[in-house]
Amino acid sequence: MSAEVFRGRLLWFEREPAGSEDEDAYHYLEDGAIAVADGRIVWSGDWPDLPSAWRDAPVRDHRPHLIVPGFIDCHLHFPQGQVVASYAGSLLEWLNTYTFVEEQKYGDPDHAGRMAKAFLDMLLSHGTTTAVAFGSVHRTSAEALLGEAVKRNMRIVTGKVMMDRNAPDALTDTAQSGYEDTKALIAEWHGTGRVEVAITPRFALTSTEAQMEAAGTLAREHPECLMQTHLSENRAEIEVVAGLFPWSKDYTDVYDRYGLLSPKSLFGHCIHQSEREIARMAESRSVAVFCPTSNLFLGSGLYDLDKMKAVHPAVRHAIATDIGGGTSWSMLRTLDEGYKVLNLQGQRYHPLRSFYQATLGNAKAIGMDDRIGKLASGYEADFIVLDSRGTPAMALRAETVSTLAEELFLLQTMGDDRSVRAAIVSGATASENHVTR
Ligand code: GUN
Ligand code: ZN
Repeated sequence: MSAEVFRGRLLWFEREPAGSEDEDAYHYLEDGAIAVADGRIVWSGDWPDLPSAWRDAPVRDHRPHLIVPGFIDCHLHFPQGQVVASYAGSLLEWLNTYTFVEEQKYGDPDHAGRMAKAFLDMLLSHGTTTAVAFGSVHRTSAEALLGEAVKRNMRIVTGKVMMDRNAPDALTDTAQSGYEDTKALIAEWHGTGRVEVAITPRFALTSTEAQMEAAGTLAREHPECLMQTHLSENRAEIEVVAGLFPWSKDYTDVYDRYGLLSPKSLFGHCIHQSEREIARMAESRSVAVFCPTSNLFLGSGLYDLDKMKAVHPAVRHAIATDIGGGTSWSMLRTLDEGYKVLNLQGQRYHPLRSFYQATLGNAKAIGMDDRIGKLASGYEADFIVLDSRGTPAMALRAETVSTLAEELFLLQTMGDDRSVRAAIVSGATASENHVTR
């Protein structure tokens, strides 16, 4: 068994911390080591305690940097890497003017193949080792991404988007073909290497009742698959959906009617939900995904975490970039914008909670916390090396930082891909950023 040891300061979580004093919630090792073999962590602990079995293994010394589990991005769009920074006033204008045009290109397997490489490179250089991504409507786009992820041993979840109305002809499927293509993807790819297939109705606005039925059937037939969609992002969107499904109590009720609320369901945005809707989300154990850079960029609104928790303390949630409505691939930038969105509403969000959420918290949201999100023995060896002096401005600020919480807050407030020194995927260094200062 070929092994490698990674040395540095280690941080990982066991549960969501209440604050800095809640030291039982996390492990922080000033001089730690992770032994890796066959893609898994076989030991982690204090460097001096490294068992003799691993003492002769080659050591990658990442001191003085911080090693944390790889970031997990729970909602972004594979075909939107070239949609980021498109000038628009709001969601529906942005979708119709740029996104529905751009996504048509992904019917070309050559383009999709080139973009799949760029997409995974971009994730890794930003410290994201797992992502749950929407494809385009084309089955080949999902296949391009799945194939590239399998080659790189990455844990990626994706699916072809199902959309059969209110979009250009070149970007629509039918209830039947969306069902069949998703079935074929699941049969061929789900569980190959580390990839999974998600059932992916884009949102209620672009699906007929027949297609929503088909998505519900897929969810029933494939309880092993995640389901991802969008929900209650923008007020104009909510009005259109109410008109398309006049029998519905509200937007959440549309998905509920087709059996799409479940512990495997990820709903992007969830900004304008009523207490009834939040209660149904909590009751069904569905996950609301906070996409702060996107919500601010598209002027969609402010995600109200305290309101959700007040309706039900155990409501499940995640955080994500939402590239390309989102404006950054970086989960650090995302945590920063998330902090600001909550702060605007008088809500405090401690950096230990942010880092928990971007790692173990998001792993829990997608039901993978038994495999990823910790630096513990037995876990898959996906982790990243963070440099809190990644830019000159960060180095200046770092001079006065003296606690772990302060360092994390500096990383999330000022950091981006320049703070990510390396990304290790399945035990191998998959991306390295040689910063010279
Ligand atoms: N709602 C439906 N499709 C999309 C999309 O691609 N991005 C965002 N932000 N919202 C959506
Ligand atoms: Zn989205």
